[in-house]
Amino acid sequence: MELLHVLLAASYILLVSFSPSSSLCQGKTLPYMTPDVTKISGRSFDYIIVGGGTAGCPLAATLSKRYSVLVVERGSSPYENPSVLQKKFYGFPLLQTDEFSSVSQSFISKDGVSNLRGRVLGGSSTIGGGFYGRASDAFVRRAGWDEELVKESYKWVESKLVSKPELTKWQSAVKFGLLEAGILPYNGFSLEHVEGTKMGGTLFDHDGRRRTSADLLGTGNPDNIVVLLNATVKNIIFHKKGTENEKTVHGIRFIKSDGNASQTYEAYLQQLANSGSWGDVILSAGALGSPQILLLSGIGPKRHLKSFGIPLVLDFPEIGQEMIDNPSISVLVESGPEVQLPDPPQIAGIAEDFKFIVQGLILPISINATIIPIAIKLAFPASKGKLELNSTDPRQNPLVEFNYLAKEKDMEECVKMVQLVERVAGSKSIAGFLEMESNNNSKSPHELREFCKKNVRTFYHYHGGCAVGSVVDNNYRVHGVKRLRVVDGSSFLESPGTNPTATLMMLGRYQGIKILEENTLHEQSKSNHNQTHV
Ligand SMILES: Cc1cc2nc3c(=O)[nH]c(=O)nc-3n(C[C@H](O)[C@H](O)[C@H](O)COP(=O)(O)OP(=O)(O)OC[C@H]3O[C@@H](n4cnc5c(N)ncnc54)[C@H](O)[C@@H]3O)c2cc1C
Ligand SMILES: *[C@@H]1O[C@H](CO)[C@@H](O)[C@H](O)[C@H]1NC(C)=O
Ligand SMILES: *[C@@H]1O[C@H](CO)[C@@H](O)[C@H](O)[C@H]1NC(C)=O
Ligand SMILES: *[C@@H]1O[C@H](CO)[C@@H](O)[C@H](O)[C@H]1NC(C)=O
Ligand SMILES: *[C@@H]1O[C@H](CO)[C@@H](O)[C@H](O)[C@H]1NC(C)=O
Ligand SMILES: *[C@@H]1O[C@H](CO)[C@@H](O)[C@H](O)[C@H]1NC(C)=O
Ligand SMILES: *[C@@H]1O[C@H](CO)[C@@H](O)[C@H](O)[C@H]1NC(C)=O
Repeated sequence: MELLHVLLAASYILLVSFSPSSSLCQGKTLPYMTPDVTKISGRSFDYIIVGGGTAGCPLAATLSKRYSVLVVERGSSPYENPSVLQKKFYGFPLLQTDEFSSVSQSFISKDGVSNLRGRVLGGSSTIGGGFYGRASDAFVRRAGWDEELVKESYKWVESKLVSKPELTKWQSAVKFGLLEAGILPYNGFSLEHVEGTKMGGTLFDHDGRRRTSADLLGTGNPDNIVVLLNATVKNIIFHKKGTENEKTVHGIRFIKSDGNASQTYEAYLQQLANSGSWGDVILSAGALGSPQILLLSGIGPKRHLKSFGIPLVLDFPEIGQEMIDNPSISVLVESGPEVQLPDPPQIAGIAEDFKFIVQGLILPISINATIIPIAIKLAFPASKGKLELNSTDPRQNPLVEFNYLAKEKDMEECVKMVQLVERVAGSKSIAGFLEMESNNNSKSPHELREFCKKNVRTFYHYHGGCAVGSVVDNNYRVHGVKRLRVVDGSSFLESPGTNPTATLMMLGRYQGIKILEENTLHEQSKSNHNQTHV
C-alpha cells in the first residue's frame, strides 16, 4: 500500500507541474514536432529517417547540421507523457500495453516467449533499464569501424546523457552477490566492457529523470529537423517501374498510427543543395521494424512477398534472416513482507570469457507489487531464427522466431548459466539484503536442461534481420537499391557490450558523421573535377 501511495502522489505532482514547453538538457529546445500528417504530406527532405528510436535520433541530430531531415515516429513523444521519464515509474510502461498506442508494444515470438518493443520517440531507450555500457574493442574491430570515431561518438553521447549512478542498497547487494559467486575482479565504475563485476553508466540523472535518445534531437539544428509523431511508415516508394531508376528510392508512404491503414500520405527525397547527389531514406525502425518495412516495400524473399500480394521490387532472401535473441534465465528471489521499489540495473557481472552477463533489478508487476529477478544473458548464441510478415498493416507485429537454445552449444551454456545465476541468487549478500535464509537448490543435469527449456526468456537484446554483410554493406546501404540505408539493431550480427543502447546511440552518431564526410568528399572531388576541365 505504501508504494501505491507514493506512486499516486508522484503522478499527481507530475501532472500538475508538467509543462510541454520545458526545454532540454544543455538549454537547447526540441526541434519542431507535429502529429499532423497533412503538414508533412507532399513535402521533400534531404534525408528521411524512419523511426525516432535509439539510433535514429542521434543520426537525425547529426545530419541536421547540414541537411533537412524528416524523422517519422509511429509513437508519441515522451515529453507528453512525463511519467515515462521518472525512475520511480521504471517498469510501469512495460505493464500497460495495448494494440496501437501504448509506449511499449508487446509481442510473442513463435517460440512462445513474451517480449517488448519501444513505440515512442527515443525508441526502446525510453522504456528500458537505462543501463549504459560500451562495446568491447574486439567488437569494434570485428565491425570494421574507425576506432577513433567510435570513441569520439561514444563520448559525444556520454557527455549528454550518461552519469555514474548512486548505488541503491539493492544494487550494492547485487554487487557483493556477484563477487561472492566468483565474478572477479571488481572493476568499480566503468563504461568499458571488461571481465568481472562493475558499476555501469546510467541514463537516469541524479534527480531520477530518464534521459533518452530523443534528448539528442535537441543537439541538432532545430531549423533543419521535423519530427512527425504518431505516424507509421507503411513502405518505401521507388521511381517508376520500367525506368532505369526503378530500384532507386523516391520517398516513403505513411499512415496515421491511429487512423485508417488505407488512408496514406507521402514524403519525398530531394537533391542535396549545391551538389549533384541525393540523400537517403534511412530505416532506424529497430530489429523488428526495419526488416518489416523492407518486406512491405517489396524487398525480400519473392515467394513470401507473393503470398501477401506485395509487388516485387527486389528478390532478397536474406531480409528477415539472422534474427537472434540472447537467451536469458531469470531467477526470482523472494523478498520479505515489505514491497521493494522498482530499481533498474546499475551493476553487471561479466563472466566466462564474456559469454555471461548477470544483472539484478526490481520490477513492478502491478501498482502495489514488485518482483526481484537476477537475470543472466548468453552473449554470442549460436541459434538463429527469422522474421516474416503476418499482415500488410505496418502497425501489426511481424512474426518472429528466435529458436532459443535450438543449438546444443547454447543449451550447454544455458545449463552453466542456471548454475551461476543460482549461485548469485543464493549468495549471503543477497539473502542478507532480503532478510532471508540463503538457499541452495542444486539440480541434476537433466533437471537443468528441462529448467532451461521451460524458463528461457528474453533479455530484450534481440537483433538482426538486416545483417551487415548480407543485407547492408559496410556503409549501411542496402545492397541492390539506391538511396536506402538501415542504421539500427537490425544490422547487428551480435549484441554489443553488456547492453546494446550505448552502441546504438554511438552508431547513429557515427554513421551521421560518416555520411557528412562522404558528402564533403564527393563535393570536393566534383569541384576538383570541374576545375581540371575548365
Ligand atoms: C524492456 C527493455 C529494456 C531494455 N533495457 C536496456 C538497458 O537497460 N540497457 C541497454 O543498453 N539496452 C536495453 N534494452 C535494449 C535496447 O533498448 C534496444 O536494443 C535498443 O534500444 C534498440 O535500438 P534500435 O535503434 O535498434 O531500435 P528502437 O530504439 O526500438 O527504435 C525503433 C523506433 O522505430 C519506431 N518504428 C518502428 N516501426 C516503425 C514504422 N513502421 N514507422 C515509424 N516508426 C517506426 C519505433 O516506434 C521506435 O521508436 C532494453 C530493451 C527493452 C525492450
Ligand atoms: C499520439 O497518440 C497518443 C495515443 O493515441 C496520444 O495519447 C497522443 O496525444 C498523440 N500525440 C499527439 C502529439 O497527437
Ligand atoms: C478506410 O479508407 C478507405 C479508403 O479511403 C475507405 O474505402 C474505407 O471505407 C475506410 N475504412 C474505414 C473503416 O473507415
Ligand atoms: C494489490 O492490489 C490488489 C487489487 O488492486 C489487491 O487485491 C491486493 O491485495 C493488493 N496487494 C497488496 C500486497 O497490497
Ligand atoms: C497473426 O495474425 C493473425 C490474424 O490477424 C492473428 O490472429 C495473430 O494473433 C497474429 N499473430 C501474431 C504473432 O501477431
Ligand atoms: C549446494 O549443494 C551442493 C550439493 O548438495 C553442494 O555440493 C554445494 O557445495 C552447495 N553449495 C553451497 C553454496 O552451499
Ligand atoms: C560542376 O559542373 C557541372 C556541369 O557543368 C555543374 O552542374 C555542377 O554544379 C558543377 N559542380 C560544382 C561543385 O561546381
